[in-house]
Amino acid sequence: MTSGDLSAPELREKFFHHVCQTSPAPLGIVVRSASGCEIVDHDGKKYLDLLAGMGVANVGHNHPQVVTAVKRQLSRHLHVSVYGEMIQEPQVLLAENLARLSPGDLSVVYFTSSGAEAIEGAMKTARKFTDRPRFVAFHGSFHGDTFGALSLNGNPMYREPFEPLVPVVDFLPYGDVGAVDRIGHDVAAVFVEPIQSEGGVRIPPDDFLPALRHRCHEVGALLVLDEVLTGFGRTGKLFACNHWEVVPDLLVLAKALGGGLPLGAFVGTEETMATLSQAPPLGHVTTFGGHPLSCAAGLAALEVLQNERLIERAHELGEDWRRELAKELGPYVRQVRGKGLLVGIEFPSADFTRRFTARCLDLGLIVNWTLHCDNVVSLAPPLCIEAGELEEATKRMRLAAQSA
Ligand SMILES: Cc1ncc(COP(=O)(O)O)c(C=O)c1O
Repeated sequence: MTSGDLSAPELREKFFHHVCQTSPAPLGIVVRSASGCEIVDHDGKKYLDLLAGMGVANVGHNHPQVVTAVKRQLSRHLHVSVYGEMIQEPQVLLAENLARLSPGDLSVVYFTSSGAEAIEGAMKTARKFTDRPRFVAFHGSFHGDTFGALSLNGNPMYREPFEPLVPVVDFLPYGDVGAVDRIGHDVAAVFVEPIQSEGGVRIPPDDFLPALRHRCHEVGALLVLDEVLTGFGRTGKLFACNHWEVVPDLLVLAKALGGGLPLGAFVGTEETMATLSQAPPLGHVTTFGGHPLSCAAGLAALEVLQNERLIERAHELGEDWRRELAKELGPYVRQVRGKGLLVGIEFPSADFTRRFTARCLDLGLIVNWTLHCDNVVSLAPPLCIEAGELEEATKRMRLAAQSA
């Protein structure tokens, strides 16, 4: 049986039998194609993707420039060797661009295949660089689901079934400047999202990240900013840390970095990143990290982001959209908040939120509630979304709320 031969019911049946399920109620859309802001199912029903494939398709699904770059690389070579051994042009060029665009003097990139793998690499780098045991993370955080990344997860419900995890992680309240002094001299690194996405699209007070930066300098801990979701224009700046002019010691990236192909990275200074090349050499390696196809796609996506002014668009459209959403959904919501095109809608109850997201799906809108906050829906559409599409989305969301 080859791809394309099966009917939608056949695919659905095999999906539920053979593809490991991660929840009792997956979205379950049988995908035929995707482009721009739209996903089309097997029956031709069109969905407006207000999640951009969970924060990946910032330049839109299947952007023609990304597809062309991937095809060009496809004709040159695929995987050739483990990461770090051979010099591959797309990897080198993407690293150079990330070094140019990253804040401060972060100039050396370690490529991975995913966000969680990049978090693992940042944890190991911090442990070895500082020779200290402890990590600090925050209540409500999400950094991925591998053992190290899960150890930093700020919700015990997700940690406890898998314990024992990586020891000595302390959790502090997110956004609480008063708690920052609890970061001690035995801390290797503080892991933080500049805006918590799965924590319910929580934006910290303006003095929070600068206070963390200051405290990390004071005690000699590394500040690791997880911009897996907030990076690449999502919040109206290239990186969310640019809003507060905070320069981390390690910047963790993934999702939109690969333009739709799997890619992650962590970026640091020459001094910090030199940790990984010795004592022992090959102490942190990966087979597929920085895959040439993913890097070619990432390079093209970065170019699109800049040429099509998508970062500025995210800022401009985001402000208008949040105002419209607050107006149109007013009686049903507690709050509409966000930055750029990362938006959180807080409803009064989890039950209403579940009914609302189900109605949205019926009406051809892909939205979801956040992992740690079941009464908050997060919206993160492609940054190329048109004002008219946002208007249409708002209209349908009002209908969904009315009938939820
Ligand atoms: C903030 C944040 N960090 C890390 C991750 C993990 O990334 P990945 O799913 O690529 O492992 C995610 C994924 O949703 C995320 O939102």
